[in-house]
Amino acid sequence: MKILICGGTLCYSHATFKADLLVVDEKIVAIGDDLKKHHSFDELIDAHRLLVFPGGIDPHTHMDLPVMGTHSSDDFETGTISALHGGTTSIIDFANQEKGGTLNDALDIWKAKASGKAISDYGFHLTITDLNERTKKEIPAIFKSGITSFKTFTAYRGSLMIDDKMMGEIMREIKALGGLVTVHAEDADTIEDKIREYKNAGLLTPKYHALSHPISAEVKAASRVMDLAYQNESGLYIVHTSAGDTLKAIQKNFDRRQRVFVETCTQYLLLDDSVYDQPGFESAKYVMSPPIRSIDDCKDLWYALRAGLVHSVATDHCPFHYKGQKDAGDGDFTKIPNGAPGVENRMELIYSEGVDKGRITLEKFVEVTSTYAARIFGMKNKGALDIGKDADIVLFDPSALHTISSSSSKQNVDYNLYEGQTVTGKVITVLRRGKVVVRNGKADQMEKGTGQFIKRDKFNFSL
Ligand code: URP
Ligand code: ZN
Ligand code: ZN
Repeated sequence: MKILICGGTLCYSHATFKADLLVVDEKIVAIGDDLKKHHSFDELIDAHRLLVFPGGIDPHTHMDLPVMGTHSSDDFETGTISALHGGTTSIIDFANQEKGGTLNDALDIWKAKASGKAISDYGFHLTITDLNERTKKEIPAIFKSGITSFKTFTAYRGSLMIDDKMMGEIMREIKALGGLVTVHAEDADTIEDKIREYKNAGLLTPKYHALSHPISAEVKAASRVMDLAYQNESGLYIVHTSAGDTLKAIQKNFDRRQRVFVETCTQYLLLDDSVYDQPGFESAKYVMSPPIRSIDDCKDLWYALRAGLVHSVATDHCPFHYKGQKDAGDGDFTKIPNGAPGVENRMELIYSEGVDKGRITLEKFVEVTSTYAARIFGMKNKGALDIGKDADIVLFDPSALHTISSSSSKQNVDYNLYEGQTVTGKVITVLRRGKVVVRNGKADQMEKGTGQFIKRDKFNFSL
């Protein structure tokens, strides 16, 4: 199948220019002026007045994640349908090792969740919760199979958290293979002390979830893990960075020339902590870790994006229905499953609030929503509109206005963090490896199970 995309403005992390683009089967094969003259094609897509982006990559999602006796409400089918409607053609989800279980067990479980269901392409970060002689031996083959980034936690004691000794060991094992360690950085002791304090005082509404996860907990854990990475000469990727003070701590590494990659998420850029002042239980919708911070933190994050200190914008998409899941914690915020939806809205929101409002350039938008994630996480066929790469392509109308609403959303969840927000810019058509999966905003050839596992390479930077 040959598809000619004609007359669009092609957007890269380094440049933007008008050109035609030819897709043959799954790949981009030609870019240039007036390709019609020299090439045959089966279908022509008119992209005049549209921007053409590389398919979005969300490097942080949790589909079908077991949490507190329930599961995140999007599975790999509904979650990737939502992602594709929003212009995200690849996700990297997390396979979590159960304490006492093997790494291969975790991967088997998550591969079974995704294969036969996913429609976007997908990879996995592997969460290590227990490194021992047995699990150490599993790592090289897992790495070879295309899982080259490994997740660690400094929080969630008893399930996901590991201690600093194990963190250092993981860094040494992964570095030897050329992989990347990622971290959820929040200090467990600080959080647990705060939770105890609020529970003893009978302060149990959702707002106290946010107050029990202070910025100081993020700074403390991030600083500790950066020191460990420095001591072990390891790269590090800090997920869902939420606060200006954390950015300041990261910046200090400039003095020791340390390479730390930084992710933030749409919600930390766009929302502020007034969401926790809503009446009743409503603010449970925003219970996530880390929580939403202040307006100044949003400003710091936008500044850091512009300045190149933040490298990617993810979502940490981990939805739970307000009615029937979040409400398990009505009366006790510690029982509210942590997480929120967002995979469908990331590209449009970052374009609208970032590019349209003049906070970031179009090139920066492409970099932080796609190109950098592909580079950092070794996805050599993704992340740019280059000849030879996968034809993951988004046609985007930069002037179309629309309003976000959970009633028209594809996400399988009964609310949207951005309900009622008007957005400038709309995903019109999406190709995933050369297949038109969204056409004029509507699902087209979305065949369940056609998403492919992304076999990833070593991480592509020198430290
Ligand atoms: O609250 C969150 N972020 N839930 C998802 C799991 C995680 O910590 O990333
Ligand atoms: Zn996390
Ligand atoms: Zn997460």
